[in-house]
Amino acid sequence: VSDAASDGEGVTDALVAAVHDHTLADVARSVVAGVGPDEVSGLAASDQDVALAALAACARIDDELARSVVEIEAALAHLGDRARVVVPEPDAQYHLLRVHVDDHSDALAVGESLRAIGFTVWETWSGGAAESFRRFGTQLTYARTDDVSLVVSVRWGHRARRTGWRSVAARAVVPTAGDWEAIDLPRWAWWAYSFVRPVRQAAERLGWRRRYPENLGPFLATPDALLDPLFAFADLGPGDVVVDIGCGDGRIVVAAAERVGCRARGVERSADLAAAARARASAAGVAHLVDIEVGDGRDVDLSDATVVFVFLPVEVVREILADLLDRLASNVNTPAKGVTKCTARLVVHEQNPLALTSAHPPAERRVLAAGNAVTVAHRWDVRG
Ligand SMILES: C[S@@+](CC[C@H](N)C(=O)[O-])C[C@H]1O[C@@H](n2cnc3c(N)ncnc32)[C@H](O)[C@@H]1O
Repeated sequence: VSDAASDGEGVTDALVAAVHDHTLADVARSVVAGVGPDEVSGLAASDQDVALAALAACARIDDELARSVVEIEAALAHLGDRARVVVPEPDAQYHLLRVHVDDHSDALAVGESLRAIGFTVWETWSGGAAESFRRFGTQLTYARTDDVSLVVSVRWGHRARRTGWRSVAARAVVPTAGDWEAIDLPRWAWWAYSFVRPVRQAAERLGWRRRYPENLGPFLATPDALLDPLFAFADLGPGDVVVDIGCGDGRIVVAAAERVGCRARGVERSADLAAAARARASAAGVAHLVDIEVGDGRDVDLSDATVVFVFLPVEVVREILADLLDRLASNVNTPAKGVTKCTARLVVHEQNPLALTSAHPPAERRVLAAGNAVTVAHRWDVRG
């Protein structure tokens, strides 16, 4: 970092790389240490601020995880050694805990206990997919959301990692989430999921099937602490029209309307989450500014959008990025009635590397850290 710290851009990139490598706290410590009286000239004050905020966020996440470990151990105590909560490494960057179990049925037992303390499950297969998952799956994911989402990954099969040719063979025939989601087979036909993948992949390559037919990813909330930093990064103002693609419980669109006074639209696949988003807008007194649609976020009307937020898995973002930028560019050239011609912005945040092609470089990419949360935010500016 001390080399990188010699110019502002270098520090920004070093901090982004550190988020991706899960070494944010270490790198932030070096940035802070590098800001001694003799070395201060190379570092922008904002780099020091980000590094300090990142350190504080990691420390808070550690504290919150430690409390969650106690809560979850208590909830799982009746399962004895069947459920083992893994103590997280220090300097965590997000709220994720692991529980090790021996098999799928123990994972379901853990799920029952987690449900009692407010968690819901991400994987909800039925029929043949549920049977195939029971035989081949290796983890169930439970999450609970308040100001942040706490994710508990319940894993089994982690001891029996296959190596060599067994691992190659397993990769070829062991079904994955994409296969279970692709087609609903009857329970007795669970074995046929091993043959779904080649057909599915061929159909995707030939363009006969969307790679992510419906579900672009599970609900994981943008932490409340990051909303204001994201709005500042997007340069959000009262004249903007915000669209959140996959709006979850509506926290981004409602906060944008409430705090900035702009119009905002959320589109969400889950009717339950969309209902929660509408209730949130009403409770905040901004229902007249916020529209929530149930539907596929990829098909949402962007003709009046000036700022689009996306928090989805990185592989999905890579898939939809070019289309979103094209559609925003056409808005900028022919703005909708009532929308002033302006630079539209697309803001994506994610802790995992986006691995973008050079065809669509973002205008800015930066670590945002505040309260108990950290992310990497990317912004594309689309000018007329
Ligand atoms: C990671 S969450 C982000 C939630 C919210 N944008 C936020 O930042 O707090 C992704 C959301 O996308 C929704 N989603 C998944 N597939 C979708 C689709 N095809 N169309 C619309 N929403 C979808 C999920 O239900 C989930 O609520």
